[in-house]
Amino acid sequence: MSEKAELHFNGNVYELPIVTGTENEKAIDISKLRAQSGLITLDYGFKNTGSTSSAITFLDGEKGILRYRGYSIEELAENSNFLETSYLIIYGELPTKQEFDQFVKDITMHTMVHEEVKNILDGFPSKAHPMGVLSSLIGALTAFYPNALDPNRSADEVNISIIRILAKMPTIAAWTFKNEIGHPVNYPDNSLDYCSNFLKMMFSVPSDKYEPDPVISNALNKLLILHADHEQNCSTSTVRVVGSSHASLYSSVSAGISALWGPLHGGANQAVIEMLEAIKNDGGDTKKWMAKAKDKDDPFRLMGFGHRVYKNFDPRAKIIKKAADDVLAKLGVNDPILEIAKGLEEVALNDEYFIERKLYPNVDFYSGIIYRALGIPTQMFTVMFAMGRLPGWIAQWKEMRENNEPIGRPRQVYVGENHRAFVDIKNR
Ligand code: CMC
Repeated sequence: MSEKAELHFNGNVYELPIVTGTENEKAIDISKLRAQSGLITLDYGFKNTGSTSSAITFLDGEKGILRYRGYSIEELAENSNFLETSYLIIYGELPTKQEFDQFVKDITMHTMVHEEVKNILDGFPSKAHPMGVLSSLIGALTAFYPNALDPNRSADEVNISIIRILAKMPTIAAWTFKNEIGHPVNYPDNSLDYCSNFLKMMFSVPSDKYEPDPVISNALNKLLILHADHEQNCSTSTVRVVGSSHASLYSSVSAGISALWGPLHGGANQAVIEMLEAIKNDGGDTKKWMAKAKDKDDPFRLMGFGHRVYKNFDPRAKIIKKAADDVLAKLGVNDPILEIAKGLEEVALNDEYFIERKLYPNVDFYSGIIYRALGIPTQMFTVMFAMGRLPGWIAQWKEMRENNEPIGRPRQVYVGENHRAFVDIKNR
């Protein structure tokens, strides 16, 4: 017999079906509640609301489990590469050798962006934050590929948009950085793999031909895999909601990039490094900054700590912390910021305030330290997150469209004025 929950209200009993996921997670289906009872549910920040059912990512915040399409993040970070993981996330299965080779070939063929994109780039002031430029240029792709405007075209048309956005993202991302430092852009080098090509477009200058270091591109591959999807987070929900109006993949992803930018989400990786630097410049007194983080009258939060769903540990942070040690050792980098981060982590993990609220280091706490070691400038950190999250956004958009999900349109409880008569400006 299918399970049901009961809601008792004003002497009536409403039966609500229970939906059970493949990992035995249970949800009360309230989609007919308003029609039956006139009631809606209220949940600020959607803390307890499932917006969809999805077969892409499984996450258990209490146990610290993260899996893409059933495969654990630990195994993927150890054995896969970013494009293989992207294929898995987008199409649902690990590719065969033939499928993978074709996928890589397709992406490599589309790495160039239209020359006129450079004109748009030139219109931005240098010093423009790379995230704002990235979001604009990804949205602007619709101008160059008008067929993408209609996501109801054939599956092949949709797929070509997917390949294009994956292929052009590193090129556009590297160009946002070149714009910021006022240097000429580099074109893609299709003899290189995805991550090495990105590094070369970032760091090559005409007088110094940059050769990507395999230690750096391997570390980058791992970082991108760790960020590749994270179920219904702020930016992904944004992508799904924007896409639910049948907006194009490019516009939906552009909106996702904007959502990611904020310091409570992807922007935290930049904020963490700025915070660690501020602590260092202030004399390195971690206890003083901990006190600030706990003071309710002080808006300061310990950036890189806490997570909406992970209440035990963030499995990505565990992998990243070890990767940070490995990368720094391999590259022979000695970063004093790492010591401050470790000190801060130790103080926080033993502090009653943080223990009570289950606040642990999240993925962003250590990712910035690796990015620094790889030579990536601080203002590009969130762009790196966006590059990593792209396959997740694509897969979630595709799933939402294939399931023909209705337009996203929450309700509200109105708490404003009741009806009142208009007063002419002379009498106000
Ligand atoms: N420093 C100090 N106090 C904190 C922090 C923090 N980083 N995070 C949460 N708290 C406190 C918060 O003040 C509240 O205390 P109280 O119950 O006394 O009012 C309690 O912990 C619960 O916090 P919340 O804001 O209700 O939790 P949330 O689920 O709404 O927010 C979060 C989650 C990630 C936005 C938040 O922990 C935060 O702001 N962290 C810092 C920013 C950060 O590192 N973001 C990156 C998240 S991981 C990357 C990604 O996937 O985006």
